[in-house]
Amino acid sequence: MSIKNDLFLRALKGETVDRPPVWMMRQAGRYLPEFIAIREKYDFFTRCRTPELASEITVQPIRRYGMDAAILFSDILVIPQAMNIEVEMKPNFGPYLPNPVRSQKDVGNVIVPDVTVELDYVYQAIRATKALLNDEIPLIGFAGSPWTILCYCVQGQGSKNFDKAKEFCFTNPIAAHQLLQKITDTTIAYLKEKVKAGVNAVQIFDSWGGMLSPTDYQEFSWQYINQIIEALKDDAPVIAFGKGCWFALGDMAKSNASALGVDWTCSARNARYLTGGNITLQGNFDPSRLLSPPAEIKKMVHQMINDFGKDKYIVNLGHGILPNIPLDHAKAFIDAVKEYK
Ligand code: CP3
Repeated sequence: MSIKNDLFLRALKGETVDRPPVWMMRQAGRYLPEFIAIREKYDFFTRCRTPELASEITVQPIRRYGMDAAILFSDILVIPQAMNIEVEMKPNFGPYLPNPVRSQKDVGNVIVPDVTVELDYVYQAIRATKALLNDEIPLIGFAGSPWTILCYCVQGQGSKNFDKAKEFCFTNPIAAHQLLQKITDTTIAYLKEKVKAGVNAVQIFDSWGGMLSPTDYQEFSWQYINQIIEALKDDAPVIAFGKGCWFALGDMAKSNASALGVDWTCSARNARYLTGGNITLQGNFDPSRLLSPPAEIKKMVHQMINDFGKDKYIVNLGHGILPNIPLDHAKAFIDAVKEYK
């Protein structure tokens, strides 16, 4: 099996390319009218659990814009769900976990499931998506970092500072580490199955890593992400994205990750400096900047490619695309990369 457009996979290997590949975090979603049409008919986890729907949603942005990689429509919270923690997705509110994990006893009730059974619907969605993609472009699988998953499990919902999650870690570190290890073990088994089902690369989203101090980041987040990288590195390339985690880029660059995600608060120059200039970087357009006029978006994208350099670089946003981005602005972002010379 070889992928016709392999720009993304070549950039992950650090090979020289004519132009960098491009995709957008959260590209399958809320800003697309064809996604909203499906959302009106089926609730969130029905969309995740129905291979025909998940695969259709995954390819919607590709049909419209022709990105160089697709990312499977799913969610990071399918992991706690499989671990016996109830997760709801409330419209206009986001994730809600009615029985958050708050004690040693609660951690004891969390299971490490047989992921081949509990998450079989994900692998079915991957196989359905691979059939639709027809080897035109690679498919990315993903998981949340153990720390980011712990944030939701303990806090019970989204938060500006995840204060309850931090309180749990700092007052009950033994239980916190047990929970992080259970999440890590589940995530490793899950990502290995995703690769078997056909994903060509995996990304770890550490969306809330930036809530931690550099020292706490090592203890509560990075060591677990690194376990996942070590376990997966021979199966597929791994991209580690930590939002707000520029301070950890130096350590991350020493790992066996194939690429590191960077958000928009870190300049290209600083990211290259911190990572030693040798590892592939991915990012880092401010998602709100997609509200600028299309001509300005194109100029800024070309500047961003010049700043990172066209090689060892994957064009992306610095975090997920926002729901209020006009369709032609998203198109300008993708087209700018394809027009790059
Ligand atoms: O293109 C894609 O990336 C689609 C697949 C995808 C979703 N969630 C679908 C989704 C991915 C990669 C995610 C990851 C995810 N989920 C993260 C990490 C990335 C990040 O944004 O930091 C996090 C923290 C979550 C948890 C989550 N899921 C939240 C906070 C929410 C509600 C807020 C929101 O983003 O709308 C979700 C729901 C969710 N996951 C939606 C989508 C398309 C929107 C809800 C819906 O469609 O009903």
